[in-house]
Amino acid sequence: MCGIVGYVGTGRAAPILLDGLKKLEYRGYDSAGIAVLDGSRMQLFRRAGSVAYLEEARKLQGCIGIGHTRWATHGAPTEQNAHPHVYGRFAVVHNGIIENMQPLKEACLKRGETFSSETDSEIIAHLIEFCYDGDFIKAVRSACARLEGAYALAVLCTAEPDTIVLARRASPLVLGEGEDGLYLASDIPAIARKGIKIYALSDGEFAILRGREIAFYTEDGRKISKDPIDYDCEEEIPEKKGFAHFMRKEMSEIPLAMANTQKIIPCYPRISELREVLCHAEYIEIVACGTAYHSGICAKYAFESLARVPVAVSIASEYRYRDPIVKKGTVVIAVSQSGETADTLAAAELARARGAVVVAVTNVRFSSLARLADHVLFTCAGREIAVAATKSFNAQLMLLYSLAEELARARGGRVCGAELAELPALAAEAGRAAEGVRGWTAHFAGAKSVFFLGRGADYCAALEGSLKFKEITYLPSEGYPAGELKHGTLALVERNTPVVALLTSRRLAEKTMNAVHETYARGAKVFLITCLPEYCSREEVSFSVVIPDCGEIFSPALSVIPLQALAYYVSVARGNDPDKPRNLAKSVTVE
Ligand code: AGP
Repeated sequence: MCGIVGYVGTGRAAPILLDGLKKLEYRGYDSAGIAVLDGSRMQLFRRAGSVAYLEEARKLQGCIGIGHTRWATHGAPTEQNAHPHVYGRFAVVHNGIIENMQPLKEACLKRGETFSSETDSEIIAHLIEFCYDGDFIKAVRSACARLEGAYALAVLCTAEPDTIVLARRASPLVLGEGEDGLYLASDIPAIARKGIKIYALSDGEFAILRGREIAFYTEDGRKISKDPIDYDCEEEIPEKKGFAHFMRKEMSEIPLAMANTQKIIPCYPRISELREVLCHAEYIEIVACGTAYHSGICAKYAFESLARVPVAVSIASEYRYRDPIVKKGTVVIAVSQSGETADTLAAAELARARGAVVVAVTNVRFSSLARLADHVLFTCAGREIAVAATKSFNAQLMLLYSLAEELARARGGRVCGAELAELPALAAEAGRAAEGVRGWTAHFAGAKSVFFLGRGADYCAALEGSLKFKEITYLPSEGYPAGELKHGTLALVERNTPVVALLTSRRLAEKTMNAVHETYARGAKVFLITCLPEYCSREEVSFSVVIPDCGEIFSPALSVIPLQALAYYVSVARGNDPDKPRNLAKSVTVE
């Protein structure tokens, strides 16, 4: 998951490239670079670290260039490994992974070529140079034919200093046609501006940006025409609006994200068709990664409890390689905030190829997932910049709960429209209560390990709370079924080990408190998140936060909010940047 940009037009390229890269930094930020042609002179400027380190390059002359912000897959995050990679007459920026890099590199070395980086991407520049006989796009097509794996490419050539050639396979790439020139980027917001026409390159397609003209080609070289996509370029560019971090701002937007998403199912134009599909589904399977996977396991409780329909939930990277059984009548719900996660896309494509109806739940219009699914339900969380998913998770829950309720209604199950309807307001209340965790920070900032415990839906929320905590505090933690601790993991609990217990089900409360007591008896410090205030005074409990009671099934939509806040405040206390946690990126578009 890297970010690429490019420009050719009447303006100076360098400032446009740097501003575009800033908008793509959420995709990867361990090194960055730009290449700008001034006539046939290639000017290359790369740095380890964030895009900010490229500011010196803003003054470069030239009206055509490409840029890249990297999340390292092959080779350490160094200047040498930063893109663009230059070899011979060509400069290349690449998002993806080349899986047959080794044999290709050996062939280049046999030809006496030398490499200046450890990356897989550099091989592409070598191949294009080798294939070049004066026809730029033909050289790029020949090189791509040798590649195995995923790529979104933009290429410059000193012999053709008015042209950028693009290629796409499995990694997103969009183009823009504006008054002052032609643009390209990994995602639309990086180039969206008033009056620009946006085009999406499809898998296997190529494009040439030359002067004022965009030409599209198929894999076999046929020229094709493409219509612009209907994108609202007036869309607001996210700002922090006074918050210290995007994550904290996006947490504050959870109630609105849920309220806006609540309207999606009733307004979905093909809802009767979708209801039919779900009602007759022999089998429902949810596939997703990370936080989206956790929204899937929370939804499982709702589908099974309300509609009495068995639902399986699979991690997409496991699903795609386990040779899944996809029986007739299977519905696969693919959940992905970005709609670009490689594993989730592959799982959805595999399910579809084996006959499943694929329903996409995504936050990004025109995303690859939105384009491949049979039905697309958009969460309305608004753009989420922080790597740690918060409002998009709550919006996914809102949408999946609404879908479960819709199915329950159609199948004569338990309907609970009223409880659903009040979730956004209760989320606002939970957000205010969550500020109480600020007083817990000192007990977590130096912890060796942390446990998040729960039973039933609380266990699902515990898993999500643990992922949030790990990914932005860099401290080890584990979300664990409260009833399972005594089967081994209890051995890890020692004096002052922080244990966060979730207690939203009166039915299971005493059982969960048994597990809490087991940890307390071994010295743990217990932090309770509950909608049952009578438990806050129990001797085991050191600290507590009380959230509204929204019923057991939907409780993760509220109990996750103090967990998000805890992760955020501990991350800040430890001097981390919660928006750009180390080693991670917002959209994992590679395997
Ligand atoms: C969540 O905080 C993480 N950033 C990560 O686990 C994320 O949920 C996962 O990569 C899936 O992303 P997606 O929803 O865009 O597919």
